[in-house]
Amino acid sequence: MSGWKISPEKSPDGTGRDAMSRPFCFSQMSNDPTVPEAWLSAGAPPLEVDFGCHRGTFLLGMAGGFPLRNFLGIERQSARVERCNARILRLGLANALAIRGEGPGALGDLLPAASVGILHVSFPDPWPKRRHAWRRLVTGGFLAAAARVLRPDGTLRLMTDDPDYFTGMQCLTAEGWREVAWNDGIERPATAFEKTFLALGKRPFRLALQPLQSRRSKSRAWNLRIEQPS
Ligand SMILES: C[S@@+](CC[C@H](N)C(=O)[O-])C[C@H]1O[C@@H](n2cnc3c(N)ncnc32)[C@H](O)[C@@H]1O
Repeated sequence: MSGWKISPEKSPDGTGRDAMSRPFCFSQMSNDPTVPEAWLSAGAPPLEVDFGCHRGTFLLGMAGGFPLRNFLGIERQSARVERCNARILRLGLANALAIRGEGPGALGDLLPAASVGILHVSFPDPWPKRRHAWRRLVTGGFLAAAARVLRPDGTLRLMTDDPDYFTGMQCLTAEGWREVAWNDGIERPATAFEKTFLALGKRPFRLALQPLQSRRSKSRAWNLRIEQPS
């Protein structure tokens, strides 16, 4: 896979703008991409993560609409990641980046504890057949990883069209999380799948949650346990 790296070099997009006019620019390199350090430093603007960002409809809409925040897309399909980064480059968005990653491990690998302001998980693959439900993204392990990377005031925003998956999300978050209002006063663009469902006259199920302190310490302990060499 050709990786993407953010570097403070001259822009390769032909605009001639350099690091002074644009804090970051992309160059397509084979290095493993990482989250820009500046996005994780103390005092950095809130970081938002779109997990399963597909080709970036929501990520790009958010990055364009909120230039003072940073937006990271995590997506398991390389072709979608590359497509997403090509669009970011074309639009000259310095505050967005997509990285290939899969499942809860990607959160732990890419992001330090308490670094994320909002974690969006929109229309994760529903795997509606009961025998396939184990393949779902939102599991206890994913929620533990989410609680770890969220800031103490951070929010997890879950959206799905699948009633059974939604019930599962409610059950899994009944303890250790508290529900907060979905409407937080911010106008967000619809995701690609949300647009499709809205066009069909369907309303997705939505859940906004904040981890309770107890949940955060448990997930820290859980992470310590799995990271310790035997
Ligand atoms: C149904 S699409 C939804 C896309 C987008 N969030 C939206 O609302 O339009 C689910 C996306 O999540 C990605 N995905 C599924 N499972 C994943 C996993 N375990 N880790 C990372 N990405 C995953 C898929 O490749 C796909 O792009």
